[in-house]
Formats: sequence, C-alpha cells, structure tokens
Amino acid sequence: MNSQEPEKIAVIGSGTMGAGIAQVCLLAGYRVTLQDLKDELVQNAASQIAHFLRRMAEKGQLSSPTAETAISRLSVTTDLAEAAQEAGWVIEAVFENMEVKRDLFQRLNKFCPPETNFASNTSGLSISEIGAAGGRPRQTVGLHFFNPVPLMKLVEVVRGSDTAPEVEQAAIALGQKLGKTVVVCGDSPNFIVNRINRPVNLEAQQLLQDGLSSLTIDRALVQGAGFKMGPLMTSDLSGVHIGLTVTENIFKETGDPRFRPVPLVRKLVRAGHLGKKAGKGYYLYPPGAENPVPRQPEIVLPLAETPAKIAIVGENPATEKLKAQLTGGGLPIEEDLNEAGLVLLAPGLDYREFFKHHPAAPGTVYALLDALASVTEAGFVSGQPQNVIGLQNPLPSINDKFYEINLGLETSLETAAKVAALLKRMGCSYAVMPETPAGIVLRVICAMINEAAFALQENLASVSDIDTAMRLGMNYGQGPFQYADQLGLDRVLATLDYLHAETGDPRYRAAVILRQMVRAGKLGQVSGRGFYSYQVS
Ligand SMILES: NC(=O)c1ccc[n+]([C@@H]2O[C@H](COP(=O)([O-])OP(=O)(O)OC[C@H]3O[C@@H](n4cnc5c(N)ncnc54)[C@H](O)[C@@H]3O)[C@@H](O)[C@H]2O)c1
Repeated sequence: MNSQEPEKIAVIGSGTMGAGIAQVCLLAGYRVTLQDLKDELVQNAASQIAHFLRRMAEKGQLSSPTAETAISRLSVTTDLAEAAQEAGWVIEAVFENMEVKRDLFQRLNKFCPPETNFASNTSGLSISEIGAAGGRPRQTVGLHFFNPVPLMKLVEVVRGSDTAPEVEQAAIALGQKLGKTVVVCGDSPNFIVNRINRPVNLEAQQLLQDGLSSLTIDRALVQGAGFKMGPLMTSDLSGVHIGLTVTENIFKETGDPRFRPVPLVRKLVRAGHLGKKAGKGYYLYPPGAENPVPRQPEIVLPLAETPAKIAIVGENPATEKLKAQLTGGGLPIEEDLNEAGLVLLAPGLDYREFFKHHPAAPGTVYALLDALASVTEAGFVSGQPQNVIGLQNPLPSINDKFYEINLGLETSLETAAKVAALLKRMGCSYAVMPETPAGIVLRVICAMINEAAFALQENLASVSDIDTAMRLGMNYGQGPFQYADQLGLDRVLATLDYLHAETGDPRYRAAVILRQMVRAGKLGQVSGRGFYSYQVS
C-alpha cells in the first residue's frame, strides 16, 4: 500500500447496512471498496451514497469538496479478490445466514493479506463461529451497527472467544473514528441491544395477546416510561417477521423461557400481517387513514363528574405525592371516610383488613394505589366489586403525571370514568386496561431490567455499556440500570416475584444478582448504592 494513501476498508454486501457503513467509512477518511454479487447492486449503492453525501453538502452539514473527496474514495466491484486487496479491515454486511457468512469469510481468508482484520455486522450470529470458520479467530470481531448507520450513534464491538485484545482495541478505535459511541460485549446471542430489548417486545406482545389494545400498550410506554415510540409501533416499522426471527434465534440458542415467542406473533406472521409495509401488523393501516388503527379498540369511558370528596388511607411517598397533586388541583383531602366519594388506598395497605373495619359504601369508589395487589380480589372482599379499581403511577421519576387505571373483573366503567375525571382535573394523563398484573409500564420495565441483570451476571458487558447501548440503540430515555436504581431494586424484585406468582410463568424468574443486591442493601438511589453510587442527602 502506498503510505500516502488512506487505509482501505472492504465492505462486503451493499444492502441497507453495507451502503450505510461504506458511507460513514468514507466520511471518516477511509478508502472503501464496496462489493456485492451483482454489478447493478453496487452501482445503485454507490449512487445512493453519492446522493446522500451531496445532499449533506447542500444542507451545509459538510463542505462540497469534502463530499466530493469522500465520493472519489469509493470504488465498487463484484470481484471479492479485488475488494480484499490491501484492505486493513473487511466489514461484512451480507445476509443474516451463517452458511453464507462462513463461505464468504473462508474465501476472504484466501484473498486478504495476513494482517487484514475481519468484522461482521451480524445482528446476532456467533462471532466465535464466524472467526473459526474464516480461519482468523484472533483477528475477527463483531462490529454491530444500527440502522440507519449514518444517524445511529451506537456500535457494539463484539469480542469472540478467541479475539485478540489488540484486535478488539483496534475495532474500538475504528468505531470511534467512524464517529460512533462504542460499547464492548461478549459473544452471546443477539449481543446487548437486541437481547435486552427482547423482553420489552415480548411483554408488549403478551399484553396484546391478553386482549389489551396495541395503542394502550404503546401509549403507556411512551407517556409512562419515556419511550420515543411504543414497541408495537416500532415493530410494525421494522417488520413483525424480523422481530420474530430475532426472538426465535435467541430462544433456539438459549432454550430459556424468557425468550419464548408469543403464539399470537407466529399467527400474525403466518397470516401475512407483517407490519406497516403489508398494511397490517400490530396495527392496521387502512388506505387513506391518517393514523394506524389498533387491532383491538381502546376502552372508552363514559363522561363522569370528579368525586367531590376524596380521602386517602395509609401513608407512603406515593400518597404524599398524590396529596400534593390533589390539593394543587383544588381538591382538599377529606378526613371522614364516610363522607368521601373516592377513597385512595395506599400501596402496601391490607385491603382485607381495611374492608373488614370499613364496610364499603355503595356510592363510594375505592382505588388501590398498589400495582402489586389484585383489584379483582379487593373488589370481591369489599362486597362492592363494581366500585373497586386500580390506580397506579408506575414510574414517578419519569412521569409523575401518568397513571394506569386497572379494571378488576367486575369494575364498572362508571367507576373508571370517575377516576379518569379526577386525573384530568389534576392535569394527568392515563391508560385504561383490564386488570393486568403489575400494569403495563412496571411489567415491561422490570422485565427489561431483569434481562439486563442476567446479562450483567453473565459478564456480557459493563453496567455503563449496557445502559449506553440501550439509550442510544433504542432511543430509550434511560438505560435499564438507571430505571432500576430509580425504582428501587427491592421494588423491581417484588414486581418480578409478583408476576412469577400471579402467572406461574418461568420467564419472570428474577436474576440472582438482583436478589443478592437487595439482600446486601443495594437498593438504588434510596440507599445510595445500587448499580451506581449516589450521595444520600
Ligand atoms: N437492517 C438492519 O436493520 C440491520 C441492523 C443491524 C445489523 N444488520 C445485519 O447486517 C447484515 C446485512 O443486513 P441488511 O439489512 O443490510 O441486508 P440487505 O438484504 O439489505 O443486504 C444484504 C446484501 O448482501 C448481499 N450479499 C448476499 N450474499 C452475499 C455474498 N456472498 N457476497 C456479497 N454480497 C452478498 C446481497 O446481495 C444484499 O445486497 C445482516 O447480517 C443483518 O442481520 C441489519
């Protein structure tokens, strides 16, 4: 290689990812040869890259000469040997198929100079297997970019069983030179983001199968957990079948019930309900409709008046906050339970004892603030099941003005409407659902935290790399360990144990590390120590 020339990178596969990877390599100053099976494919990719770079120049994001220099450094070919020549790195982005990747790396091993490092952009296949197949296990890493590559800030560097430390370091340096935030992880199915996000999708799918509206599920996660978009709508954009393939891959690899696919999703895929492009998926997209239509309509409440007098039973930080919100909304707290039209029962309060001593009045609404309590059972013991309801603010640190309204088996819509009227008066938003153990937000977030905890105890990656990966790879407001520390690890564990007991489903088995941390008093922000350390005031 002429020492004056910039280093060359061979990008193999010129589809969605290959073209994006080539573009960021060109912008970082590398020479790039882009290879694919057909001339027409590489020519199209080259025109698309040139178009994007010139458009960036038009928008003032880079100078015109910079764009033209970058474009001049791109060459395309269908000849693998030509692509391999002089390459410092090969980055592979061909089909997600182990046989195709094995065969490709075996041929590359023959064509590339001995010093060439191999990187695969696989979404979840084993880097160790690719390294062994290609004959350069020490020089092979995963370099997992996210779509669209030029916009997504994250890259996961995946260390195979035999990857040499200097090659891992070189991959980190390459990712950084390409302008990305690099996280490092071990070689485990689906790496960090696609693994830790699995329970988010699986819980949302399970809730849909349980009869909730896709819109209610997505809205709760956007408003209550700070997600940019709900997981079901996101899956409709990427393809319901793509998500199912990822789940099936990780379930096949691990056999763990945490990754068991949801039968409804298989049914949708078999029926061709593949997402937005197909016109139907988790939502329906009728021609001309402005917004996607949820498969199952949301629960519609009748109009109702806010109960005039509200009482709170039990003391707890959640009730303190509610008191402040109520008085802020001009609603004084009623001390006499017999006078109240709505009685709020604090988390942890024993509702059996309560109703034993305070028989439910027929005209009064009783709202359970505890997400880990059965509204239906409380309704039954009260003798007035139509008047008993669940009302929870799942993640106060993210949004203390979002509530989930849980309807027990016999709760009336009039009862729900009275609670909804109160929330509106307090300036709060809400989602209404049939009784769902732990609600939507807490259930989804705790399942994600549990998966992150399993990944941590397996040494997949560090706490901060896992949080960074989830924030940047999924655009979540926070990483799973940040959510955990805010919620309190004891609450996370209690939620998982409650879900396990209520459903009998082994996918809620809590990671041992969570139980150990709780036993060691590492509860998160409240105790000053959790996954991170805090100053306790
Ligand atoms: N699309 C995504 O969101 C995404 C995100 C991260 C990682 N990935 C991974 O990136 C890889 C590529 O995905 P994509 O979405 O760009 O796919 P794609 O179908 O858009 O492109 C794949 C390209 O590889 C070419 N190809 C196939 N076999 C080849 C071979 N033997 N030699 C040379 N070229 C060959 C195809 O002709 C095609 O142009 C996959 O491993 C995928 O799992 C995809």
